[in-house]
Amino acid sequence: MSSSSSTTYSLPLATTFVLLMLYVSNAQLNTTFYSSTCPNVTTIVRSVVQQALQSDSRIGASLVRLHFHDCFVNGCDASILLDKGGSIQLSEKDAAPNTNSTRGFDVVDNIKTAVENSCPAVVSCADILALAAEASVSLSGSISWNALLGRRDSLTANQAGANTSIPSPFEGLANITSKFSAVGLNTNDLVALSGAHTFGRAQCRTFSNRLYNFNGTGNPDPTLNSSYLTTLQQTCPQNGTTTALTNLDPTTPDSFDNSYFSNLQNNQGLLQSDQELFSTTGAATVSIVNSFSSNQSAFFQSFAQSMINMGNISPLVGSNGEIRLDCKKPNGG
Ligand code: HEM
Ligand SMILES: *[C@@H]1O[C@H](CO)[C@@H](O)[C@H](O)[C@H]1NC(C)=O
Ligand SMILES: *[C@@H]1O[C@H](CO)[C@@H](O)[C@H](O)[C@H]1NC(C)=O
Ligand SMILES: *[C@@H]1O[C@H](CO)[C@@H](O)[C@H](O)[C@H]1NC(C)=O
Ligand SMILES: *[C@@H]1O[C@H](CO)[C@@H](O)[C@H](O)[C@H]1NC(C)=O
Ligand SMILES: *[C@@H]1O[C@H](CO)[C@@H](O)[C@H](O)[C@H]1NC(C)=O
Ligand SMILES: *[C@@H]1O[C@H](CO)[C@@H](O)[C@H](O)[C@H]1NC(C)=O
Ligand SMILES: *[C@@H]1O[C@H](CO)[C@@H](O)[C@H](O)[C@H]1NC(C)=O
Ligand SMILES: *[C@@H]1O[C@H](CO)[C@@H](O)[C@H](O)[C@H]1NC(C)=O
Ligand SMILES: *[C@@H]1O[C@H](CO)[C@@H](O)[C@H](O)[C@H]1NC(C)=O
Repeated sequence: MSSSSSTTYSLPLATTFVLLMLYVSNAQLNTTFYSSTCPNVTTIVRSVVQQALQSDSRIGASLVRLHFHDCFVNGCDASILLDKGGSIQLSEKDAAPNTNSTRGFDVVDNIKTAVENSCPAVVSCADILALAAEASVSLSGSISWNALLGRRDSLTANQAGANTSIPSPFEGLANITSKFSAVGLNTNDLVALSGAHTFGRAQCRTFSNRLYNFNGTGNPDPTLNSSYLTTLQQTCPQNGTTTALTNLDPTTPDSFDNSYFSNLQNNQGLLQSDQELFSTTGAATVSIVNSFSSNQSAFFQSFAQSMINMGNISPLVGSNGEIRLDCKKPNGG
C-alpha cells in the first residue's frame, strides 16, 4: 500500500524533473549570465557605443543591423564578424546583402577590446552584438530592454546562408514573411523589427528600381508619394552613382521613434519592402502598421520583445562554439 502509493507519487515527481530539465535547457539565455564574471559589461558596451555616436550619428543603426544579419544566418553566433582568411574561406561579410553595405565592425572591435580589458575571455562577440544593438536603440530613443545573454561564438561562417536567408528589399511581402517564419519570427515581429528603419541610411541601389521604371512598367512605383519621389529622384539620378545615401526615415532620420509607421501611411516608405507592409491590400501587416503609428508605446513594447525573439534564434550555448578573443577570427585561426 505504502510502496504502491510511493510508486504512484514518484512518477509525477520524475515527470516534473524531466520537464524542469527541458525548461532549463530551453531557457538557455538569461539577463544575468555575466553577473559574476563581467558585471559591468552592459555599461562598458554602452559607453563605447555612446562615444562612437559622437562622431558618427549613423553608427547605432549600423550596429542594430549587424545583430539582425548575424541572427538570420546560423543563429546569433557572431558568424557575420569573421573575416575571410585562415579556416574561413567564404565570409558572410562578402555575401550579397552585406558587401559594401554592413558597417560598424571597427566599433565592435573597440567594444571587444574594452570588454577584454575588464573581463578577459568571458564575453562572447555574439552577446556584444546583442548588447550593442540594445545600447544603440536606447541611446537614440526612449526605449530600453534587458538583453538576454549567454551566447557563444561560431567557428564558421555561412556565406551561402547569408545570400539566401537575409531578406532582400526587392522581394515581395510573401517572400519576406516566409524568411522571418523560417527563423521562428511572426508577422508582428516582421512589422515591429522593420521599424528599425526609423534610423540609418540606404544606398540608391536598394530603392532606385522604384524611381523610374518600376517592375517593367516604365513608370515609378505608384505607391511612392509624389513629392517624396521628386526628392529621391534628385538624390538618385538615372545613371547616377548607385552608392549615394539617403535617410531611411525622412522625418526624424536619427531618432528611434514610430515615425517610420506614419511615413508608410504617407507613402513615404523608402524600400519597396517597407511600403508593402502598408500598401499590400488585405495583408495582416496593415493593421499592425496603423497601430504602431498611432501608439508609440505599443511599437516600443513590441520592438523590445521582437528584438529578444530575434536574439533567441539558435544561439550556441553550453560548451558549443567558443568565446572568441578577436571577433574577426576563430581562436584557432
Ligand atoms: C524586413 C526585411 C528587411 C529588408 C528587406 C531590409 C533591407 C535593408 C536595406 C536594403 C538597407 C540599406 C542597406 C544599404 O543601402 O547599404 C537596410 C538598412 C538598415 N536595416 Fe534593414 N531590412 C530589413 C529588416 C531589418 C531589420 C529586421 C532590422 C533590425 C532589427 C533592420 C535594420 C536596418 C538598419 C538599422 C538599417 C540602416 C543601417 C545603416 O545605416 O548602416 N532591417 N535594410
Ligand atoms: C543563466 O544561465 C546560465 C547558463 O545557463 C546559468 O548558469 C545561470 O544559472 C542562469 N541564471 C539564472 C538567473 O537563471
Ligand atoms: C563599472 O562601471 C562604472 C562606470 O563606468 C565604474 O564606475 C565602476 O567602477 C565599474 N565597476 C567595476 C566593478 O568595474
Ligand atoms: C564594392 O565597392 C567597391 C569600391 O567602391 C567596388 O569596387 C566593388 O565593385 C563593390 N562591390 C560590389 C559587390 O558592389
Ligand atoms: C553569394 O553572393 C555573392 C554575390 O552575389 C556571390 O559572389 C557569391 O558567390 C555567393 N556565395 C555563395 C557561397 O553562394
Ligand atoms: C520569392 O520566392 C519565390 C519562391 O521561393 C522565388 O521563386 C522568387 O524568386 C522570390 N522572389 C524574389 C524577388 O526573390
Ligand atoms: C510586377 O509585375 C509582375 C508581372 O507583371 C506582377 O505579377 C507583380 O505583381 C508586379 N509586382 C509589383 C510589386 O507590382
Ligand atoms: C542613362 O543611360 C542610358 C544608356 O546609357 C541612356 O540611354 C539614357 O539616356 C541615360 N539617362 C539619363 C537620364 O541620363
Ligand atoms: C505625401 O506626403 C505628405 C507629407 O510629406 C503628406 O502630407 C501627403 O498626404 C502624402 N500623400 C500621400 C498620397 O500619401
Ligand atoms: C498603447 O499601447 C500600450 C502598450 O501596448 C497600451 O498599454 C495602451 O493602452 C495603448 N494606448 C492606447 C491609447 O491605445
